[in-house]
Amino acid sequence: MAIVMILCVSCKEQPVPEFIDKKPQKDIVMENLLTRRSVRQYTDEMPPKEVIEEICKAGTYAPTGMNKQSPIIIAVTNKEMRDSLSRLNARVMGNDSIDPFYGAPVVLVVLADKDTSYTYVEDGSLVMGNLMNAAHAMGLGSCWIHRAKEVFESEEGKQILADLGIEGNYVGIGNCILGYVDGEYPKAKERKENWVYWVK
Ligand SMILES: Cc1cc2nc3c(=O)[nH]c(=O)nc-3n(C[C@H](O)[C@H](O)[C@H](O)COP(=O)(O)O)c2cc1C
Repeated sequence: MAIVMILCVSCKEQPVPEFIDKKPQKDIVMENLLTRRSVRQYTDEMPPKEVIEEICKAGTYAPTGMNKQSPIIIAVTNKEMRDSLSRLNARVMGNDSIDPFYGAPVVLVVLADKDTSYTYVEDGSLVMGNLMNAAHAMGLGSCWIHRAKEVFESEEGKQILADLGIEGNYVGIGNCILGYVDGEYPKAKERKENWVYWVK
């Protein structure tokens, strides 16, 4: 009898599962997802390292096919490297005179190893999504800047990876630029009709 009593007491004391406990946060999470926008004007101010680290952490927790964790993130705060990546990106666009990174001081380059998982593009894209949403949650602007694939297929891009000691069959997925928003925060465009088809 005593044993039964003890068991019942311990049953009652089971903690509420964390996901139920955190349900009130759903509004905050939804708000963050719905209000993130691509930012194309930045101040020169460098965000604190800890903030960039948190954003990168969110990237590393993105889902990946079979949990192979094929992507990597190169966190660039070094101006010289940031400018080199911008120049290489502009060259892919065929316009050397622009900064495709819109003056953002930070670039998080996401690459994914083709040989690690056949879902490497999807894996890397989800990392990009996490980075942008985390940046918004941390009060920073962000934007996906494309052409990372072409940049890291170039000899200069390959040399950057080699110099960093990054080995593997890495493909550029995207550049997540980060910084403090200069000017007004962009508004969401109208959502198209028929985004969702219900099957009830
Ligand atoms: C795969 C992908 C590539 C993109 N490439 C660029 C880019 O090279 N330059 C740019 O200014 N924006 C780029 N964007 C941002 C889109 O233009 C932007 O997400 C879209 O206009 C919707 O705006 P929103 O992010 O504010 O909702 C890219 C977005 C995605 C998903």
